[in-house]
Amino acid sequence: MKTLNVDLGDRSYPIMIGRGLLDAPGSFQPFVAHRQVMVVTNDVVAPLYLERLTRTLSGFADVDVTLLEDGEGHKNLASFERIMDHLLTQRHNRTTTLIALGGGVVGDITGFAAATYQRGVPFIQVPTTLLAMVDSSVGGKTAVNHPQGKNMIGAFHQPRAVVIDTDVLGSLPQRELAAGLAEVIKYGLIARSEFLDWIDDQVVNIQRKEPEALGYMISESCQCKADVVASDETEKGLRAILNLGHTFGHAIEAFCEYKNWLHGEAVAVGMLMATDLSIRLGWLEPETLERLKALLTRLELPVRPPQAMQPE
Ligand code: NAD
Ligand code: GLY
Repeated sequence: MKTLNVDLGDRSYPIMIGRGLLDAPGSFQPFVAHRQVMVVTNDVVAPLYLERLTRTLSGFADVDVTLLEDGEGHKNLASFERIMDHLLTQRHNRTTTLIALGGGVVGDITGFAAATYQRGVPFIQVPTTLLAMVDSSVGGKTAVNHPQGKNMIGAFHQPRAVVIDTDVLGSLPQRELAAGLAEVIKYGLIARSEFLDWIDDQVVNIQRKEPEALGYMISESCQCKADVVASDETEKGLRAILNLGHTFGHAIEAFCEYKNWLHGEAVAVGMLMATDLSIRLGWLEPETLERLKALLTRLELPVRPPQAMQPE
């Protein structure tokens, strides 16, 4: 197991990365405040991993579960309210600990519930998609969507720990893996060019989900995110670098009404558009665009916006 640290003074927390961590009580027990625990997950992830996590926790905690419906369409106030209802009905007090078991959608909703339940309770992120492992579970941005905009209702609320069991990627569809890789490439572009070379070299191992390649890739990505978050927790400046390609990407997602295109796919094309803009402004060498396009293509990510968005 590898442990990284998000350095935020007395709110610092570990990111634990390893195989089989879902079965390791030691990954969770130090971060559970008292006996009460509420695991929040969804109807896709629960049949795969909920029983294992519950077994691990039940040695030292009383475990309740809130099951949400799957998908971005359920990252809303109705799901938030379902968690609140369940916490209150089951009489959870201010020392309860919430645990998010799922992708970025479950993580963002659970984090927001933790930020607000009885003015704030601790929570632990257990990300199960690559995107959630390398991005959304780290850094404390929590939110739900509003019909008028994505992530419009939220809070900064850091988790107590991030527990990444890389084995759960075994069940992740290849398309979701590729979407997460867009965020991994982002770290190579913004901070670590040698990491970009490593990804280029390891494409086959990554796509085969070789444990060693996945572990290294996740650890490098999380370290990059942890460094940025530690220096600018609430995005007053530097943290905006993590949004590379996201402005264009959000335009694609909005154009598609958040259907058909995954977030990471839109970010992949968005990074190409941002690169193209930088070249036009004279800030980047033209070769960068071709190199990025070639890498995204090898990773089976889109390199053009949706047909209907392109000029005739
Ligand atoms: P997601 O949570 O919808 O997960 C994608 C799909 O994979 C879902 O159907 C999910 O149920 C399924 N799944 C999850 N784990 C699985 C597993 N191990 N095996 C099989 N299926 C599995 O999507 P995502 O890409 O993880 O996250 C996207 C969300 O994250 C968006 O809402 C985005 O706004 C948010 N996000 C937040 C931050 C942040 O800093 N908070 C950063 C980036 C993205
Ligand atoms: N995903 C962008 C951020 O965490 O700031």
